[in-house]
Amino acid sequence: MSLPATPGTPYGGDYTPEQWPQEVWKEDYRLFDSARIDTVTLGVFTWALTQPAEDTYDFTVLDRIVAEAEAHGRQICLATGTGAHPAWLARAHPEVTRTDFEGRRHRFGQRHNSCPNSPVFRRLSAAVAGRIAERYAGRSSVIAWHVGNEYGGACYCENCTVGFRGWLRERYGSLDALNTAWNTAFWSHTFSDWDEIEAPSALTEHWRGPDHTAFQGITLDYLRFMSDAMLANFRDEKAAIRRHSPGTPVTTNFMGMYRPVDYHRWAPHLDFASWDNYPPEDQSPAWMGLSHDLMRGLKDGQPFWLMEQAPSTTACRDVNPLKRPGVMRLWSWQAVAHGADAVLFFQMRASRGASEKLFGAVINHAGRDDTRVFREVAALGAELERLGSAALGARTPARTALLFDWDSWWALEISDGPSRLVRYQQVVLSYYRALWEAGVDVDVVPVTADLSRYDVVVAPALHMVKGDLAQRLEAVAERGGSVLSCYLSGRVDESDNAFLMDVPGPLGPLMGVRIDEWDARGPEFANPVRFADGSPDAEARLVFELVIPRGAEVLATYQADFYAGTPAVTRNPFGAGHGWYVAAGLDQAGVGRVVRQVLDAHGIAGRYPDLPHLETAARVAPDGTRLLFLLNHAAEPVEVPAGAGGLDLLTGEHITPGRPFGLDAYGVRVLREDD
Ligand code: GLA
Ligand code: ZN
Repeated sequence: MSLPATPGTPYGGDYTPEQWPQEVWKEDYRLFDSARIDTVTLGVFTWALTQPAEDTYDFTVLDRIVAEAEAHGRQICLATGTGAHPAWLARAHPEVTRTDFEGRRHRFGQRHNSCPNSPVFRRLSAAVAGRIAERYAGRSSVIAWHVGNEYGGACYCENCTVGFRGWLRERYGSLDALNTAWNTAFWSHTFSDWDEIEAPSALTEHWRGPDHTAFQGITLDYLRFMSDAMLANFRDEKAAIRRHSPGTPVTTNFMGMYRPVDYHRWAPHLDFASWDNYPPEDQSPAWMGLSHDLMRGLKDGQPFWLMEQAPSTTACRDVNPLKRPGVMRLWSWQAVAHGADAVLFFQMRASRGASEKLFGAVINHAGRDDTRVFREVAALGAELERLGSAALGARTPARTALLFDWDSWWALEISDGPSRLVRYQQVVLSYYRALWEAGVDVDVVPVTADLSRYDVVVAPALHMVKGDLAQRLEAVAERGGSVLSCYLSGRVDESDNAFLMDVPGPLGPLMGVRIDEWDARGPEFANPVRFADGSPDAEARLVFELVIPRGAEVLATYQADFYAGTPAVTRNPFGAGHGWYVAAGLDQAGVGRVVRQVLDAHGIAGRYPDLPHLETAARVAPDGTRLLFLLNHAAEPVEVPAGAGGLDLLTGEHITPGRPFGLDAYGVRVLREDD
């Protein structure tokens, strides 16, 4: 099963009419009509409403909410409501609350607060999901099921500890295998009974928080186990839904690059992926591009839903900047450009009280339709209506892949040495940003993906190398492709044990280098890096590997310290292609230079590589129609040189390929390219 079948791009979002008297609902739908909002996500936090007591289900209010949406002809994404448990449940069964990293058993409060291994939680969350599916399945208005909400966090209670032991038994079969995998001969840790194993927390293996552990193998397995435990919660509810609703797609809203949950392990269990886009700063188009591409890569390039975004401002940060005029539209189109087949907001009407009352909403507390935000939402609704079904199901024609791996992320960031300052997301983002600035389409894929369709595979901070990955990367180069990797790659195996070979481990033959030593320095220290092609020096920071070439040619060298003159960037001929290696934390300009060289070697070029704020992204519709999205992320208009052409689906204007054209500040064009 794949995405919900819809006539156009679903537009709307999280709607919580249960917070208002029913008179308000009519007014809401009048405003939704004027903004062409055709889809509402209902019931995301309604567990206490639909199950007011353990033996009582009450659908009176949800029935009314659904009926109102149906009366107005809306599509419904219907949630199971289990993202927060009811107060009566926590009181009756304290085991459903979580125990935190410090070992404190929590009491009722907040949300995303259930222990994933609580048998009571598992039973009752599946039961309520089943009841909801039983009641509302089969209605043509319900086009998708939304399970839980933003799964995440962790629990360290006794039920989780017991669950962890069971998970380990299944993974390792014997204590001998487990002792070997965790290298427990270190610090007298040999386990002789499964019940001796503890959850790794502040009370056991950790100090200074979740990243500082005495036993990486234990902590890594606990991260995997927690991700799997929450996946089991999702699957419980999905199975309950399926009993009543065999044909309606099921999803849950992911959070892009969210460290605690390995979305690659989850993806096969979702019918389609969806995610909530809340970029960390207000100038993050490359971060968003990476996140969208990661989400598209979850289901092998299948489009996803943008399940949530703020129409104007967030509220959860210390400082919450407002999206400038045009930015909500721009970012919405960016999502579509990267594969979103739905554009949805959080929230449709602003909550009256509690922590999200000042979070941006399509309809504000005064219920106005003449605010700037409402007008922009309505204008985007009209544009999406003009687009119609043109982009639905369209795929991204990428020749470049970037590997993203939760295991590498976890292993790198819980490692002691060489530097706590190297952050996986930052390294990956710097390589993605270079590709993004070059204007090429990128598939962000798991390490298990089929790499045979790519000319270029970028594998930044591939700290852990699992299974046959090294051979599959070699195969890319064998047939003429390029593999680009960087420092701290190829360090550990699946159990986070060092490879008993030269660094970069199994990547060594492909990269044609050997690394015996590495240096780490504070962020204030920069080592200049000089390129052999005469391009301007770059700077390297944080980690500096000392490279001994073993067949690789040297593309750039360090300029300072006792290793001045030794290689910082190399390229190794391998088969008909190359392995490229960046041995240090190059600045963005340096990464950009290496990435451009790699792309040039394959004739892969963006349309406007010299206009870094002008993003282009291609999608190919199921009927072969090519769509080209042009997105100006700058606050100034841009003159786009001759190149792209076709029918602008948003304005009806025809752009002649041989002629330059203008794009407004934060402007967007969606061109249907001529054959
Ligand atoms: C998340 C949640 C929503 C809401 C928004 C805004 O994405 O899923 O329920 O809390 O953030 O903070
Ligand atoms: Zn627990």
